[in-house]
Amino acid sequence: MNNDIERVLISAEELEAHVAEIGRKITADFKDKDPIFVGVLKGCFIFMADLMRHVDIRCTMDFMAVSSYAGTSSTGAVKINKDLGQDIEGRHVIIVEDILDSGVTLSYLKGYLLNRRPASISIAALLDKPARRRSDIVADYSCFEVPDAFVVGYGLDYNEQYRNLPYIGVLKPEIYS
Ligand code: IMP
Ligand code: MG
Repeated sequence: MNNDIERVLISAEELEAHVAEIGRKITADFKDKDPIFVGVLKGCFIFMADLMRHVDIRCTMDFMAVSSYAGTSSTGAVKINKDLGQDIEGRHVIIVEDILDSGVTLSYLKGYLLNRRPASISIAALLDKPARRRSDIVADYSCFEVPDAFVVGYGLDYNEQYRNLPYIGVLKPEIYS
C-alpha cells in the first residue's frame, strides 16, 4: 500500500498537531452553545475521531452519507444516502468533512441543512484544495491547504482504498491508469 504513494504530503505528527489546534479553536468558539457535529461519511471518520478528543465542551454528534450523482456534478446535485437522526432546528451545526475540493458537496449540504433552520452552520474541513473550487464556499476551520493533486490517507480514499494510511499522501499517477 505504501508503495503506491509518490510522496507524503502531511505526516501523522503534523496531522495530530493541527487537528488538536482546530479542536481547541472550536472549544473556545462554541463554549456553552451545545453544538452538533455532523460528520460526512466516510471520509471524515479518522479526522472526526481525532478532532472530537480535542473538543472539550458539551456537544452531540451525528453522521450523514452523501455521494455526487454520477454524470451530473456540473449541476451540483448530491445524493443523500444517510440523513441525520436528530432535529437540528435552533442548533449550532458544525459539518465535519475530509476535503473541500470543488465545493459542490459542501455547498449543497449547507443549503440542505439550512432548510431545517439551525441557529448556525460552520464547516470544519481537514484539507482545502482551493485550485479546484467551483462554488464560493469557504471552510470556517481548516487544517491544511493542499495542491491540485489527488491525495489519500487519514480517511481519504481512492476507490475505497488507502483510508487507513496514517498520513496524507499523493498517489502515484500509474495507480489511476
Ligand atoms: P467536492 O468536489 O468539494 O464536492 O468534494 C467531494 C468529495 O470528493 C470529497 O468529500 C472527497 O470525498 C472527494 N475528494 C475530492 N478530492 C479528493 C482527493 O484529493 N482525494 C480523495 N478524495 C477527494
Ligand atoms: Mg468525502
